[in-house]
Amino acid sequence: MPRKTAQDKQAYRTEVIRRINAAMPSVMQEYASINWAEELKGYRTDHEYYPDYIHAPIHGVTDGYTNPQSCLAWDAAMDVIIPLSHNVSCLSLREKMAELIPQDTQIDTVLELGAGTAEGALALARRFPQATFRITDVSPYMLAIAQHKFNKAGFGERAKFEQVDARHTGYPDNSFDLVTSSLLFHETPKEWTPKILKEMYRITKPGGWVLYADTFRGEYALSAYIEEPWLDDFIHFNFEYEFAKAGFTELSYIPYAAGLWYMVGRKLET
Ligand SMILES: C[S@@+](CC[C@H](N)C(=O)[O-])C[C@H]1O[C@@H](n2cnc3c(N)ncnc32)[C@H](O)[C@@H]1O
Repeated sequence: MPRKTAQDKQAYRTEVIRRINAAMPSVMQEYASINWAEELKGYRTDHEYYPDYIHAPIHGVTDGYTNPQSCLAWDAAMDVIIPLSHNVSCLSLREKMAELIPQDTQIDTVLELGAGTAEGALALARRFPQATFRITDVSPYMLAIAQHKFNKAGFGERAKFEQVDARHTGYPDNSFDLVTSSLLFHETPKEWTPKILKEMYRITKPGGWVLYADTFRGEYALSAYIEEPWLDDFIHFNFEYEFAKAGFTELSYIPYAAGLWYMVGRKLET
């Protein structure tokens, strides 16, 4: 693949923004019924709550996860960026990820960290109809949108939405059959990533599963086109090693489509 020039990258960004803007009127209509004052009750919205790095210009948008407008645009952005960058639909990214857990696995409790609008959890909810969910994120706006989507899909009774920092979740040891996340570590500074992985391990039940997805750690990653302040940290991680160092075993690193990868693994039975 030829190296992308600065012009290529600018043309890409312009096209992404054009497509997101075109999608926004229908997004605003879809979420017009959200009563933000009501939905945000019980969540913290003060800037001191968030980890420092959240205030940086991730994707070129300063404080993007701390305001409703950017969060409302998230799914529209993914629907544009994933196919453009990775040549695959968002739906297949999520469905393929859920399929990495064998269908006959007993999955009763699922935690999603840094869930955003919970597309990952929705795919798992379709695959494991008996499972209940904790959908978590630091962003209350993402949580409100995720809840709206879970309700619309008819899964609202199966999920709780909680404002949780992935580094210190507060859940007891050995809580969940499956701990999952996606597209989180390319946005966390290097000090955070091993700590979040350790936390994921701590709260996974013995015999339970870990499931993760992110973009490729190379020149042609999604993040080569869009501002990602901690890209350098991310590309220097060996995630097979980091998941193993956190304690996970039976790890499989699975490349998918153009520039995506999954990690699936287990926590040993004691
Ligand atoms: C790139 S988005 C990914 C959203 C979603 N997982 C997806 O795949 O579409 C990253 C999300 O992680 C959240 N986040 C970032 N740092 C976090 C942390 N320390 N704890 C919990 N959530 C975090 C952000 O608020 C944002 O919703």
